[in-house]
Amino acid sequence: MNIIGRGSQVDDWNTQMFLYESALKEINTKIEILNDEFIHVHKYNPIEHIKKRIKTPESIVRKLKRMGYEPTIENMNRYLSDIAGIRIICSFTSDIYKIAKSIACQDDVEVLVVKDYIRNPKENGYKSYHLVVAVPIYLIGGSKKAKVEIQIRTIAMDFWASLEHKIYYKFEGNAPEHIYEELKDCAKTVNELDERMRLLNDEIQKVNRDLKQDLKQGTA
Ligand code: GTP
Ligand code: MG
Repeated sequence: MNIIGRGSQVDDWNTQMFLYESALKEINTKIEILNDEFIHVHKYNPIEHIKKRIKTPESIVRKLKRMGYEPTIENMNRYLSDIAGIRIICSFTSDIYKIAKSIACQDDVEVLVVKDYIRNPKENGYKSYHLVVAVPIYLIGGSKKAKVEIQIRTIAMDFWASLEHKIYYKFEGNAPEHIYEELKDCAKTVNELDERMRLLNDEIQKVNRDLKQDLKQGTA
C-alpha cells in the first residue's frame, strides 16, 4: 500500500487528514451557525441532526482501487470527494434547499459539484441533495483548500437510505428482485410522507402567522 509508507509519506498522510478534518469542522460550524440563526430569528429548528465522518484509510484504498487508480495521496485528493463527509438531516424538503443555498452562497465556499437526487431520484428510489464543496483552511503558513461532501436529506429519506445501504451490503448488490421492488415502493411512501408532513407544517405555520396578525391588530 502506497498511502501509508515510511518517513515523509506518513507525515504527508497525517497533514492531508488534518486538512480534511479541519474542513469538516469548518463546514460543521457553518451549518450549526445557520441552524442557530433559524432558531434565533424564526424560532424554528430546520436541522434534526448532523452526522459527520472521515473515510478510513482502508475504505480510501478500496475505492481508489475500484476506480482503477493507484492508492496514492495525489490520486486520493484528485479523484475522491467524500473523504470528509457530512450528512444533514432536516425535517422538511423545503429546509434542504434553504440550507443548501445558504451554504453555497458563502464567500469562502467553492461549490464543485451539485447532485439533486430529490428532483431527480436515482432509479432505485434514492433521494438526497448532494454538494461537494472546497473550503479554505487557514494555517500559520497560509491557507489550503480541502473538499467536503455534504448530503442533505429529510428524516424519511435518511431512514430509507440507511435500510437500502444495509440491504446492498448484506446481498453485495444482488438482492432478490422482490426486495428491490419493495424498496421502490417504500421510496414512494417516503415521498408521500414527506409531502403530507409538509402540508401539515404549512398549515401550522399559517395558524401561527394568523395568530401573530390577530395579536398585532388586537383582535385576539
Ligand atoms: P460514490 O457513490 O461515493 O462512489 O460517488 P458518486 O460519484 O457516485 O456520487 P453520488 O453523489 O452518487 O454518491 C455519493 C454518496 O451518496 C454515496 O457514497 C452514498 O453515501 C450516497 N448514495 C448515493 N447513491 C446511493 C444509493 O443508491 N443508496 C444509498 N443508501 N446511498 C447512496
Ligand atoms: Mg455512487
